[in-house]
Amino acid sequence: MPLRLIFLSLETLNFTHKKLYIMNTIDWKNLPFGYLKTDYNVRTYYKNGRWGSLELSSSEYINMHIAATALHYGQEAFEGMKAFMGKDGKIRLFRWEENAKRMNSSAKKLLMAEIPNELFKKAIIKVIKHNKKFVPPYGSGASLYIRPLLVGSGAQVGVKPAKEYLFLVFVTPVGPYFKEGFKPVNMLITRKYDRAAPLGTGHIKAGGNYAAGMEAMEIAHSNGYASVLFLDSKEKKYIDECGPANFFGIKNNTYVTPKSSSILPSITNMSLMTLAKEMGMSVEKRHIEVPELESFEETGACGTAAVISPIKKIIDEENNKTYKYCSDGNPGPVSTKLYKKLQALQTGDEKDNYGWIEIVD
Ligand code: PLP
Ligand code: COI
Repeated sequence: MPLRLIFLSLETLNFTHKKLYIMNTIDWKNLPFGYLKTDYNVRTYYKNGRWGSLELSSSEYINMHIAATALHYGQEAFEGMKAFMGKDGKIRLFRWEENAKRMNSSAKKLLMAEIPNELFKKAIIKVIKHNKKFVPPYGSGASLYIRPLLVGSGAQVGVKPAKEYLFLVFVTPVGPYFKEGFKPVNMLITRKYDRAAPLGTGHIKAGGNYAAGMEAMEIAHSNGYASVLFLDSKEKKYIDECGPANFFGIKNNTYVTPKSSSILPSITNMSLMTLAKEMGMSVEKRHIEVPELESFEETGACGTAAVISPIKKIIDEENNKTYKYCSDGNPGPVSTKLYKKLQALQTGDEKDNYGWIEIVD
């Protein structure tokens, strides 16, 4: 069709068709982990000691007071979870109750208004239902990422908690966080940067933690690493976590993951520990000293966005040491088994015997 004709026919399409045309242009299989505009988000405001009604909005913007505590003092936290399209055409949400719980532990720590479970659930179900066409198709490898956000919206100039809050949830279809997907990546250990202090906010999902780690992450990215493998900031001795994902190592039929007060308790990691146990493995949550990396048969990063990202090399910059895995270039057998099992549960290919899945629609 000549270019002008295509242009004219697009112009004459009705609104629904135009949208369909736009949808047909989404390359589901090659989606990055990024923001793509969807139709709706949901919001509710906390004022005078209670949450208001849940509003559906098609605006990508929020109105903020110039003295909002979120803007000045980082009184803000977020969550991340995913919904998946099954072979049966049903949309499945993974472990939302754990995210609701973690959102409230963030709220508590930052002295923000907590969100009742029913409100959290209502908000995520509503936003998914109104953006159904953005749930990537079964088999595409992509999913619908759900981002709840809680911000101190009330004005304060003194350093104290706001009296008003905004809770919103938006969604966006995403591909894998590490662009390699389920392919081995390289990680950088550096002692020049800290992400979170032992008695700080590393264990909650406060935006400030990500700001604190951004410079180190950018340096790692610009040098070809998928992420920084942060060490505990007090002793610089133990593995903490891999940027926006937890760390795990496999050896002697054992799944080992760090115990630390400054890492985010990952819901994916928690799920993998359960699955590993069911596969007959032992599970250890304990300190992992850097030299122990030498003894692992496999290592990986895990999280909602990262799913499982197998690690090929960990470079310890200051000690001029490289730990190598995946010698044939492929993910190890245990990481592969865990990855497949997790994905099968999330998409509904395997029956959920754990109560981890909520059918949304
Ligand atoms: N660690 C950090 C710092 C994260 O941002 C995330 C992502 O949420 C994770 C770990 C993984 O947690 P989850 O599996 O609950 O997504
Ligand atoms: C997630 O995995 O949900 C995250 O929040 C990671 C994000 C910081 C990119």
